[in-house]
Amino acid sequence: PQKALTAAEIRARKGGAPLVCLTAYTTPIARLADAHCDLVLVGDSVGMVLHGLPSTLPVTLEMMILHGQSVARGLERALMVVDMPFGSYEESPAQAFLNAARIMAETGAGAVKLEGGRHMAETIRFLVDRGIPVMAHIGLTPQSVNALGGYRVQGKGDDAERIRDDAQAVTDAGAFSVVLEKVPAALADQITAEITIPTIGIGASAGCDGQILVIDDMLGLFDAFKPKFVKRYAHLAADAAEAIRTYAEEVRARAFPAPEHVFTDEGAK
Ligand code: KIV
Ligand code: NA
Repeated sequence: PQKALTAAEIRARKGGAPLVCLTAYTTPIARLADAHCDLVLVGDSVGMVLHGLPSTLPVTLEMMILHGQSVARGLERALMVVDMPFGSYEESPAQAFLNAARIMAETGAGAVKLEGGRHMAETIRFLVDRGIPVMAHIGLTPQSVNALGGYRVQGKGDDAERIRDDAQAVTDAGAFSVVLEKVPAALADQITAEITIPTIGIGASAGCDGQILVIDDMLGLFDAFKPKFVKRYAHLAADAAEAIRTYAEEVRARAFPAPEHVFTDEGAK
């Protein structure tokens, strides 16, 4: 089997060909993503897209580890990054290390991701110094939805300085890359030019060093709502609805199973 990309190799691709990133939560989707992606994130978005939760806040460490183990079985080449869930790292660097170490040991991930800029820099440094590569996540940080008052664009006007400062702080703390979520494109371009680690955009700019999307969003599988920054490359929910409708119709008409789907008591199988 091929050797997986490392966080150091992802970092070294700053300014090069765009890094292709997607989320995955299960083995079969991880296999599909691995064929084309540099980095696969087991995002805490799993809570919303697979578990029907209203936000990412109720997602637990156990959920992240279980999905991380599932994704790991589908990856050969892409770097696997696992999100640290809300409440698992904010209290102290020591708390963050204990939980990040569990994620790394129990899933085989190559890195963890956590939300926060300047205020999480000390924690990022603590983890990196102890052997855990960290991807940072700034701009719109969904785990702070209650403090932010919604899922609005971050870094508009004077607020741009705060996001630029966050980007510099996580870079200085040793993060190997940073997700920029839902910030103005010009700000994303400015940050991409200013910092020495790859910026991975989602609702940011085509000028970022890479892009990420939630897999269920880009496949049109999660269709409860569609943020502006999502492009649907397929419409799997609509395809699934049509398949289920046809199945129901055929069962009710006794058209399924057909002769080729049933067995006789003679001959080979
Ligand atoms: O949880 C997630 O899917 C994420 C990405 C959208 C960056 O954090
Ligand atoms: Na996340």
